[in-house]
Amino acid sequence: MRGRGNPREFVLFQSLNSLQDCLFLLISLISGRKIPLVWILGSTPFNADLVSEIKRAVSIPVIAVGRFTELQYAELLVKQGRADLIAFGRQSIADPELPNKARLGMLEELVPCIGCLLGCVPNMFAGKPITCALNPSVGRESEMTPAETKKRVVVVGGGPAGLYAAWVCAVRGHKVTLLEKNHEPGGSFRIASYPVGKGQISAAVRAMIVRCGRAGVEIRTDTEATPGYIRSLTPDAVILATGSVPFMSPVPGISDCGCVTAQDMLEGKVPVGKKVIVAGGGMIGCETAEYLAERGHQVAIVEMKSVIAKDVAPENRRYMFENFARNHVQLYPDAKIEQFYSDGVSCTGRDGSPFSLRGYDNIVLTMGTRAWNPLEEALSEFVPQVFVIGEALHSPGNAVTATADALDAALSV
Ligand SMILES: Cc1cc2nc3c(=O)[nH]c(=O)nc-3n(C[C@H](O)[C@H](O)[C@H](O)COP(=O)(O)OP(=O)(O)OC[C@H]3O[C@@H](n4cnc5c(N)ncnc54)[C@H](O)[C@@H]3O)c2cc1C
Ligand SMILES: Cc1cc2nc3c(=O)[nH]c(=O)nc-3n(C[C@H](O)[C@H](O)[C@H](O)COP(=O)(O)O)c2cc1C
Ligand code: SF4
Repeated sequence: MRGRGNPREFVLFQSLNSLQDCLFLLISLISGRKIPLVWILGSTPFNADLVSEIKRAVSIPVIAVGRFTELQYAELLVKQGRADLIAFGRQSIADPELPNKARLGMLEELVPCIGCLLGCVPNMFAGKPITCALNPSVGRESEMTPAETKKRVVVVGGGPAGLYAAWVCAVRGHKVTLLEKNHEPGGSFRIASYPVGKGQISAAVRAMIVRCGRAGVEIRTDTEATPGYIRSLTPDAVILATGSVPFMSPVPGISDCGCVTAQDMLEGKVPVGKKVIVAGGGMIGCETAEYLAERGHQVAIVEMKSVIAKDVAPENRRYMFENFARNHVQLYPDAKIEQFYSDGVSCTGRDGSPFSLRGYDNIVLTMGTRAWNPLEEALSEFVPQVFVIGEALHSPGNAVTATADALDAALSV
């Protein structure tokens, strides 16, 4: 049925052909017409109106599928008679305990699928076992066994890597203390929830925190781990999940141009003016540009490579570029920044010709990140087991690499 008209035409077609027991009507429809929308972050669930329309038009049972992550909303749809059943696809990968948590009233620790498409679908298409950014133990459930020796474990860093490692260690029976220097856990992943359509990441972070607490992890925020502090906790094992720091490319003028990092800007630490240059056109730069443009800023993205948003999933990239066009974001690929000024940059284009972008209020830097791992060396001298995970080990990374490292480390304690 791929590509066959709008929902009414589809229903008409179905009834004309007397397919009266086509239970997965909507799935077929969605797979044909809506695949790109299925995958975008944010719009959860995207097909409630479609399913209602189809339900009104047919007498057969109708199952809705596509970005259902909130049980209350799914239940409402069924109660209102707008669908007979709701199917949870990726949500069941991100948190297979969904039915149990619903039954037991534990929804605040339900980890929502964030629609990132980093772990599940690409692996499926590559013929590999699927994984999940928020549930790296999918397919590895049998490895989640109780620890033979219960240990005292310190986890440093409350990003996705640290939170996941702490939770698995606690579930396995270890006594876990998590140290986070900021006031709130979440790390870069909390900041990742600020750009357009990514708010659900904050629900995932919250669920990870709640889950840690319930498993017995002691989370100490506003606590910067130092070798001395960690020594005082006498750990048997330390898991270092200290994340990354923004990369400052050694371009002339960068240190005194007054530029701000995307992370600081997104966290609201530094206000920016009307006209903004985003220096760096990878995923973080592009999402930062979208964020600013949607708030009425005039934005230009300057990227050295010829492709902007190269590291953004193709399904999401299309919508990002539509967003850029709608908000008049200026794109400068193939532009190597040669000099930073307080009001802009000068660049060399692909053909070697120089050009300048001046008269801007702010420059937001998104030129990559570097692993931040200042504790490993000192700790190795007195802690029996030291693990480095997530962006502290390899940066740039993402939630898939962070939580996969976390699982491996936590199973090795
Ligand atoms: C704007 C933006 C958008 C992003 N979008 C996505 C996305 O859509 N999908 C995705 O998968 N990834 C995304 N990422 C990347 C993702 O956030 C990171 O890959 C992930 O957070 C790395 O996890 P981590 O736990 O290794 O490190 P972090 O999340 O950086 O956490 C490290 C933590 O350690 C703490 N810490 C450091 N040193 C100490 C110390 N000495 N004592 C105590 N605490 C310490 C830090 O305060 C921090 O909380 C995005 C990142 C940004 C900035
Ligand atoms: C790992 C994975 C495998 C899938 N395999 C199939 C499949 O074999 N046939 C199919 O019609 N849809 C398949 N789908 C699509 C889902 O059935 C569903 O329509 C889609 O994931 C959107 O729903 P969701 O947001 O609840 O995941 C698959 C999805 C995922 C994530
Ligand atoms: S990898 Fe991302 S999209 Fe896939 S199930 Fe996990 S959270 Fe959802």
